[in-house]
Parts: sequence; C-alpha cells; structure tokens
Amino acid sequence: MLKDAQGLEVTTNSPIAIAAIDLFVDRSLGYGNDALVILDAIAADPACAIAYAHAAAHYLSLESAEAKLQAAPYIQAANKYLNQVNEREKLYVWAIDAWASGDVDRAIAYHEEIAQKYPRDLASVQRGQYHYFYLGNKQGLLDIALKVLPANRENHYLYGMIAFGLEQCHRLEEAEQWGRQATQMNRYDPWAHHAVAHVMETQGRLDEGIAWMESHSDTWNKCNSLLYTHNWWHIALYYLEKEEIPKVLKLYDTHVWGRAWKESSKDQVGAISLLLRLELRGVDVGDRWAEVAKYLTPRIHEHALPFQDLHYVYALARAGQNDQLTKMLLSMQAYAKNAKPFIQRTWSEVVLPAARGMVAHAKVDWERAIAQLRPTLPRLYEIGGSHAQRDLFEQVYLDAWLRAEQNYEALHILEKRIASRRTISSIPSGLSLNYAKVH
Ligand SMILES: [Fe+2]
Repeated sequence: MLKDAQGLEVTTNSPIAIAAIDLFVDRSLGYGNDALVILDAIAADPACAIAYAHAAAHYLSLESAEAKLQAAPYIQAANKYLNQVNEREKLYVWAIDAWASGDVDRAIAYHEEIAQKYPRDLASVQRGQYHYFYLGNKQGLLDIALKVLPANRENHYLYGMIAFGLEQCHRLEEAEQWGRQATQMNRYDPWAHHAVAHVMETQGRLDEGIAWMESHSDTWNKCNSLLYTHNWWHIALYYLEKEEIPKVLKLYDTHVWGRAWKESSKDQVGAISLLLRLELRGVDVGDRWAEVAKYLTPRIHEHALPFQDLHYVYALARAGQNDQLTKMLLSMQAYAKNAKPFIQRTWSEVVLPAARGMVAHAKVDWERAIAQLRPTLPRLYEIGGSHAQRDLFEQVYLDAWLRAEQNYEALHILEKRIASRRTISSIPSGLSLNYAKVH
C-alpha cells in the first residue's frame, strides 16, 4: 500500500503506478491532453483497481458510444480486483461502474460519500461536479467542491472548481475572486480561466473578457481538445457580441473547429453552437454545417447527454441530412420511453419538444418552433450545460418570435434579457430591424 500525491492510500506496491496515477489526476484537474498516461499505471501494476477505474472514467467522459465500449474492459478489470482494495477505491470503482450503467444518481451518491470520508480525493469531486453539471444541479455542483475545501486549501484546482460552481449559482463576484485566486496560485489552470470568462460574459464585460482569456491562452496548448476549443469558444462569444464577425469566423476556423478533435462529441457541440449563433446574427456560414454534420453519424443513437442531442438535431437539419435527422428524432423518442426513471420526465417533457422546436427553427417553421420550445424553456436547466451554453435555446426562441414578426412578445423576452444580462448586445440578428419596429 502506497500513498499518492494527495496522501491517499492506493492499493499497489508500484511507485511507477503511483507516479502515473498522480500525473493522470493532475492532468484531469488541469484538462491536459495526455490522460492516457493512466495506462502506464496499469502496465506497472496490472492488479491496480483504481487505475482501471480512472482509465474507464476517461473514456466515459468522452460521451460517445465508441468510448463507452472502450471503457467496458477497464470497468471489468477494476471490478475483478475490487475485493483487495480499500474503501475509497471501492467507492470510486462503484461510482464509475454506476456511471457506465447510466445510473448517474447512484454515481453521485458514491462521489458524495468519498467527498465526505476522503476529502483529498479531488478526482472524485471533479467527477461529481461533472454529473451535477449535466443534471442541471448547480447547487450540488458548488456544494461538493465547498465540502472538501478545508482539506485542500493549498490546491488551486479546487479554487477553480469552486469558482465555476459559484458562477453557476450566480454568485458572480465571489466566482471571479476564486478564479483569479486560482490563477494567481498557478497560471496553468484553464478551468479557473474559464470560470472567470463565464463571469465576464454574464456581466457583458466583453473587452475585459477578451483580455483575460487571450492573455492566458498561451497556457492552453497542452489542454485536451474539449477545454482548448471551449475556452476559445468563449473568446469567440465575446467577439460575436462585439459584432466582429470576421474575427469570429476566423476563430471558428482556427481554434474552435480548426483545432477540434472532430470525432469528439463535445467539440462538435461547441462548433454547432457557434455556427448557430452566427446564423442568428444573419451571417452566412457557408458549407460549415455540412462539414460538421459529416461527423455526426455515430451520434444518432447515442443519447449520451440530452444537451448534446439538441445541438446535433439542429446541425443535421441545417445540413439537409433529413434521413439522419428523422432517424435521430425517432431514436430519441424511443430512448425517452425507456430512459432511467430519474431522467425520464426530463426526456419526454423537455428534451423531445425542445428537439422538435430546434428542428422547426432550422427548417424555418417559426410557429412550430415557438410552440414546441415555449413550454420547455423554464425547465431547460434540467438538460445540463452552463447558462452561457443554454442561452442558445432562448436566443433561438427569441429569433423565432422575431421572424414570425411577433414583436410584442419578442420585446418582452428582450426586456428580460436586458435586465438579467446587463447588455443588449447578445441579441440575435434580425433584431436591429425588428427591434426598431417595436418602438
Ligand atoms: Fe463554458
């Protein structure tokens, strides 16, 4: 039995395995691009259960059917060596196993137990936050990080995790302080940069946001594609709000989609979201829909995260991939029917109508888009994702009202947006024209 860098006991006698686990945990918390270093731990100690669980978690976090298959043998191996490990390792293996089975509520319970009993296990806290994020539980996301603070006051990664939780709970000033503090402690903390970016985006501090993110972007070169493209996506959003469209297209082509791992579901979602936001401002995005859509075939029956599916159906519709789109909508319907109980209502009452609404908008059917999206908006947080990411759906809804020339309703939505976001520049295109009409 050895201890890892956090002082946690690991059932192994191999210092090489420990070193690889330490590196993996550090890279996970820092969104590094070399997560597969965990395989070195398995090679050094083929009976190390938690190393297998970490490897499985890495694949599961990719949220694709293929990656789920890749995770399976690692979960099996972790379970095989379960009877010789300590309690923390057991709980962690169970948590990852539950995640693989789609029992995310059970996975969260294990991560909470680990946070309670073994607060130095930040890899586990990070997984817990991840699940809360995609269940739309912002308080849970914050609380699990705060819970372990007394045991980790020296760890800048935890400060960034707390910062993001605070931002999602609309505690913006505190979020910025924690994010800046993390960055002061270690400039190489892309998740802390990201939390501050959210604050500045929410407060409409566009130039500050650009300066903050661009001045740290040199530290992202060794990030995994998820956070690399996502942090640049945030920069693109600032420029979009400033109406610097050529710059946004350039960022899309060079950093958001240009540097994406094109098979990655999360990179695809970022690209789709940016293309749609550009179109809402009346920008011709050329053949970029078709370019993204050709990577979406494996996504059709996955339904890894409902938040992702709402993006895919829009892209398929805009790319004119009608057969694939029909297949995906039918598949979503079937999935909703058999979904796990804790997500079933969300799928049938929110995800399916929202998907139909998104497709209607993509197909220029404004009335249907409004009718389908309207009842889902108050509950859209249930599909997960951040406020900034989900704002897309409200923008689509507003755009539908504007294009249907229902300006009084549009004005009402706009007033709410202005009040909550303190900026009017995040308004879809067509708006300047229609906005004039309501006055
Ligand atoms: Fe974000």
